[in-house]
Amino acid sequence: MASILQLLMFAFTMMFTFMGERAVAGGIFRPSQWALAHATFYGDETASATMGGACGYGNLFQNGYGTDTVALSSTLFNNGYTCGTCYQIKCYQSSACYKNVAFTTVTATNLCPPNWSQPSNNGGWCNPPRVHFDMSKPAFMKIAQWKAGIVPVMYRRVPCMRRGGLRFSFQGNGYWLLVYVMNVGGGGDISSMWVKGSRSGWISMSHNWGASYQAFATLGGQALSFRITSYTTRETIIAWNVAPSNWNVGLTYSTNVNFR
Ligand SMILES: *[C@@H]1O[C@H](CO)[C@@H](O)[C@H](O)[C@H]1NC(C)=O
Repeated sequence: MASILQLLMFAFTMMFTFMGERAVAGGIFRPSQWALAHATFYGDETASATMGGACGYGNLFQNGYGTDTVALSSTLFNNGYTCGTCYQIKCYQSSACYKNVAFTTVTATNLCPPNWSQPSNNGGWCNPPRVHFDMSKPAFMKIAQWKAGIVPVMYRRVPCMRRGGLRFSFQGNGYWLLVYVMNVGGGGDISSMWVKGSRSGWISMSHNWGASYQAFATLGGQALSFRITSYTTRETIIAWNVAPSNWNVGLTYSTNVNFR
């Protein structure tokens, strides 16, 4: 009798565990409301100044982000947790606005640092608590005349439309794996990440900087899988066997999984 009861309880526990996991599996990212901010630009028309930004994506052409990118003020940057997030930006109520342009879409790839030697209403545009977009010059030139320097904008966060799966760029050494996560769809952002070697359990990775996560572990000679949770939607996905057992730092590994 007792064993049947135990069996039933076990079955119910498993059922609710399963339902619980589905419940926390997360949702689909929905666009935010339009809000007011300002936009400037940095660099020139080649967008070379946008490469090597504070998210760690390196060469934005090689890594799929191109020139439709933006540096966020620290209020938006959230210590790098908003790296990879996507925004629609439209020029708003300025004579410099291109009237026939609805909006342009950009991905956050950099931080616009505060400059405390300039007042926040005259040059210190990225000083907290300002919400500010310092766009690549090519992106800015899609919505406004660049000579304006700064324009009021309306912006909203939107899902990131990415072609293909997540990409993992490896750095570090034999005892320290530092992974830059790129081409993130859906919310575009990441809150937590785990790595699993073919001979290890899941190892929690800590946020290093920008869009990079690290594990202090010896994982050489093991195929690596990653489990990733979206910051915004809390959706968790697993990318199995992203890197083969002969993986190396300095290489980028592609997958066929991505957030919705
Ligand atoms: C901050 O502003 C000052 C004054 O305009 C300028 O000289 C300096 O180069 C700026 N610093 C940075 C890091 O941009």
